[in-house]
Amino acid sequence: MRFSPASFDNAFKQEEGEGGSFGRELLAGLKSRPRSISPKFFYDAAGSRLFDAICELPEYYPTRTELSILAERAGEIAQQIGPDAEIIEFGAGSLRKVRLLLDALRKPRRFVPIDISGDHLAQAAHALRTDYPGLDVQPLVADYTRPFSLPPKAEGSGMRVGFFPGSTLGNFSPAEALSFLQSAAAVLRGGGLLLGVDLVKDPARLHAAYNDAQGITARFNLNLLARANAELGADFNLANFAHTAFYNAPHQRIEMHLVSRTAQTVNLLGESLHFAEAETIHTENSHKFTVEGLRTLAARAGFGIGPVWTDPERVFSVHWLPAAQ
Ligand code: AVJ
Repeated sequence: MRFSPASFDNAFKQEEGEGGSFGRELLAGLKSRPRSISPKFFYDAAGSRLFDAICELPEYYPTRTELSILAERAGEIAQQIGPDAEIIEFGAGSLRKVRLLLDALRKPRRFVPIDISGDHLAQAAHALRTDYPGLDVQPLVADYTRPFSLPPKAEGSGMRVGFFPGSTLGNFSPAEALSFLQSAAAVLRGGGLLLGVDLVKDPARLHAAYNDAQGITARFNLNLLARANAELGADFNLANFAHTAFYNAPHQRIEMHLVSRTAQTVNLLGESLHFAEAETIHTENSHKFTVEGLRTLAARAGFGIGPVWTDPERVFSVHWLPAAQ
């Protein structure tokens, strides 16, 4: 996808709406083998609320650990970036995270959150405009998982900095992660990427984080089917599917699936889809990284290597990846 400077002035919507893309991609994913759905569709209003609840769970360490790293290291991070920066956030994520960054920066000039959901963007933009009157907030409705470019920086601005927290990079396959980072290195030339990724660790701790005792992650996973029912008129019976999440060690990733509890037929967009008992829909990969592995990947994508910040237990990492001019 390409953006023209004109489309940058107002929140710009991809031609195909979210619903259109959800229906098309869901149907294609359910007809392929193994069946799969992209995790980018988790985040409708209900899914976003469930994700916020996940972030508060005792078992789910990534969010609070990344926040503590950002809070503790904001000064050092700001030193890498310098004054008058333009921040491009991939995903309208937690405002708490970008606020930690904005509060530490000297005269941040512009903030560009990119998200497929216009609603999330509108909320994020409104809150930040109120609290940072000097900041030029320019939300962009787009799918950053597709190739992208950005309009030129504002005149007199400092570095252009990508912000990609939350280990969302882990949702990509290794090949997708490489091509995302290559696109990012190109659009961030002369600036850099501030990237948060979850680290490889004891599988038992990973397992617990995606199989919480309260069942919130299960509801988050099943919400994909509720969303298909509500938005596309599908007839998934949620009681006939079960959440499962496990660590795939050779691939260094948590996999989430929805398991068909029984042989069943589901109707979606005029098609009948048959599920065998125990057949699964693969809904998410959440790759885990080593510091060295992430740096190797970033270097292959054209980034330089900057400082990395971790917590004392080394469960999560925040990387500064400079993008040469
Ligand atoms: C936001 C993609 C990083 O993989 O940990 C949380 C999403 N899925 N629990 C993750 C998620 C299940 C989360 N990411």
